[in-house]
Order: sequence, then C-alpha cells, then structure tokens
Amino acid sequence: MPSVFIKTYGCQMNERDSEAVAAQLVAKGYTLARSEATADVVLLNTCSVRDFAEQKAINKMRNLVGTARSEKRDQIVGFMGCMAQSRGKELLDQLPDVDLVLGTQKFHRAAEYLDELLAGKRTKIVDTAAEAKSEAAIREHLLNGNAKTSVSAFVSIMQGCNQHCTFCIVPATRGEERSRTIPDIIAECRELAARGVKEITLLGQIVTSYGKRGWSSNFSWSEKTPTPDKLKLELQHKTAFVQLLDAVHEIEGIERIRFTSPHPKGYGDDLVEAYARLPKLCESAHIPLQSGSDRILKLMHRGYTREKYFGIIQKLRQAKPGIGIYTDIIVGFPGETEEDFEMTLSLCREVAFDNAYIFKYSQRRDTPAAEMADQVPQGIREERNERLLNLVNEIAARKYDAFIGKQVQILVEGPSKKNAARYTGRTRCNRIVLFDGSARHQGQLMDVKIERTGSFTLYGDPAILE
Ligand code: 5AD
Repeated sequence: MPSVFIKTYGCQMNERDSEAVAAQLVAKGYTLARSEATADVVLLNTCSVRDFAEQKAINKMRNLVGTARSEKRDQIVGFMGCMAQSRGKELLDQLPDVDLVLGTQKFHRAAEYLDELLAGKRTKIVDTAAEAKSEAAIREHLLNGNAKTSVSAFVSIMQGCNQHCTFCIVPATRGEERSRTIPDIIAECRELAARGVKEITLLGQIVTSYGKRGWSSNFSWSEKTPTPDKLKLELQHKTAFVQLLDAVHEIEGIERIRFTSPHPKGYGDDLVEAYARLPKLCESAHIPLQSGSDRILKLMHRGYTREKYFGIIQKLRQAKPGIGIYTDIIVGFPGETEEDFEMTLSLCREVAFDNAYIFKYSQRRDTPAAEMADQVPQGIREERNERLLNLVNEIAARKYDAFIGKQVQILVEGPSKKNAARYTGRTRCNRIVLFDGSARHQGQLMDVKIERTGSFTLYGDPAILE
C-alpha cells in the first residue's frame, strides 16, 4: 500500500486535522512513512496566520518537488488546510507540480482523492468548497502515532470564527462558526477514554463561542439527567460551552480537561465558576490579549478593554489560585504608537503572564487591518518584539523559579525526545516536567517534587516526596 508523510504547520487545530487525516488513511490501508524522502504521498498541512508560515510551506513544497524530480521519483504532493483554503487553485499556478489542494472543510475526503490521484484517474484535484456538517466529519484518532497522544488527545468541538478581528485571516480559512453537538463530542471522548486517554483538550478557533450558532442547547446530555425543569433552570445560567465542560467532566477515565483557544469575552461567571467547581478542569488558561492599549484593541475589533481583561485574570486567580495564564500578543499592529506599545508592556507586568507568544503583525489579504493607514515599519515591529520578549521571558523565568521545592501533579506523556532516559510529563497548569523515569510511568498521574528549572522546563524527582 502507498505510504504517506504529513508535515504540519501552525496551531493545535492543524495538528489535530493532520492526525485525523493520517488515521483515516491508515484505516484505508495506507502506511505512515518515516520521512518525506521515502513517502509515496507528501501532504503539507498549512497555516495562514502570518505570511512567514505561508512562505515556509511554499518553500518546503518547492524543495520537495525539486528533489523528487531530480531523483526521478514519482511522488504525489499536496497542500491541505488553511493556506490551501485561502489560496486554492492559485497554488497550482505558482507550483504546477502540486497534485492536490484540499481545503479546511474537506479533510475527510483525503483518502478518496489520493486514491484517485494514485490510480491515475485524475491528475489534479482542488477542492476548497464549503461542505455542510464538515465540522463533525472528522473524528478518527491515531492514538498510537506517538507516545504522547495515547494519554492525551485533542478533540475538535467547533470550526470557524465570527469575531472578525481586523488582523485575522481565520474567518476566511475556517469559515463561519459551526459547532458539533454535545452528544457527538461526548461519544468521541468516551471512545478515547476507553482507549486509555486521560487528558482531553477541546479545540476550536473560538471555543468560548461553542454552540452559539447552529444548534439548540435544549437537549439533555447528562448521565444523571436532571428533571426537565431543573435542566431548563441550569441552562439559563450556563453557556453551551460550560454545559459541554460539565458533560466531559462526567466521563469516567478522563482525568484532565483543557481547551484552546478561548476569547476573553467568553469568560463569564459560569466559566470562571467552572474552574472552582470542576476538579478535572486544569488550572491553565490561554487567553489571547493581543494588545494592552484600548485604542488598539478597538481597532482590532477585540470587544474588550484592558481593564476588562485584567478583571478576568483576577477573577480566575481568585477562583483557582496558581492558575497558569498564557497569552498571545501582536506587536506593530497598524497605528500602534510607542505609547500604545508601552500600555502592552505595562499590562504584561501587571498580569505577569506565565508565558506569552508574541507575534509581529503580518498583513493578511482581505483583512481590514491590511488596508489601514499607518502600517508600522518592519524595524519597529522587530524592536518591539524584542523588548516585549525580554520582559515576558524575565517574568516567566521568575514564575518557573517559584516552583522549586514544590510538589506538583504530572501526567506522564512518555520518554523525552532529546534524552530517552528522561521522561516527560505536564503539570495541571501546563508546564513540562522532566524526570528520571521508565516505561512503567507512562500514562500515569503522579506527584513529583521540583528540584530545579531549565529553559521553560521544570526538573522533578518522584523519589523524594515526603
Ligand atoms: N499578524 C500577526 N499575528 C497574528 N495572529 C493572528 N493574526 C495575525 C496577524 N495578521 C496571532 C494572534 C493569534 C495567534 C494565533 O496569531 O496573536 O492569537
């Protein structure tokens, strides 16, 4: 049977899509190649969030087809995912050797299209059309793909985003918000639990908008379904997303629940309260800030102020002391002045993020911000990126050091990639811990004492617990 190699760019949603495509192909008899050089089929699952990510995938494809041609190898190559969706056929004009361009609503067609290409029935396939119910079409998991995925799994709960932040290409690549139903998601999570998964990360482009569009929340999901009146009363106070968290929480065998990415406006009292109420909900939150300046937040169409954002963090820390707070920040958005940027620096100091991903603003086609006057010169974007990175790293290092001497619970994912004698696990607040472990630790929830820290890593010892 043909072998396939999938390379993934971008976010966890993309990782999940690649895993599902791989699982689907394996179910059809394909094998997974160890490297692109030996594969019959190479698929690049692409990211469009920044121009840099697109260029990386395009260059990779250029190298692939160049090497295959010079070695006279017959290889089917394709783009899938976000850049495939936003550029479509244009990619074939640019790279005529590409055989397949598969959009974000078509992952479940991968096997069918590859079969046709390999059999020579068709020579080029571009499919970026919208497809109803595609949000629920992918549910296969490849749990033995690597050690980590056998204890921890991603589950896609919704697709698309209607927030229309002015910098963001996602509405064009992932479309309108569409949510799967709670019973459908729960069935998938139960299956994963039965296969030994202990940690579920619920995924979507804006998970806190889960269920706001496309389905009615008026159905019962619970194992212990309350009386209809009680259920109705509860529903009035809980967003669909919190109802989903409640439902996942009831699944036996699932010990930890995470989610990404939320929007700050989704942190109502019901979600904040869920952190205090649901022991399986890990005390870790990745809440994109984007900017600390109210003026810029407004231009970005984010829908909150810095005060509102800070208020959410305070409420979360009250509900769950020690919660890990992570964020995304864009520097150099059009019109961002030194003063605006300093507002971001000061908010970062106030919040003291456990870590932050910093992005230099990148103009994306067909987004309102790309057309705004006052694009910030590249040199200033670079300079702000570096200043913010220094601040964020300094705060993060302090936060890491505060773990020394503390006991933490970790879920052991498997041997460390860099050093097989070491095992790696994750704390509930989503920090990586390395320790001297062995195969018997794999998949276990265990306590370790943190002895020292490295760069974004904690080193623990399971043997010295009092
Ligand atoms: N330029 C730079 N960063 C961006 N992001 C999204 N769009 C852009 C853009 N045009 C960042 C945001 C988002 C993260 C996934 O990528 O910070 O949260």
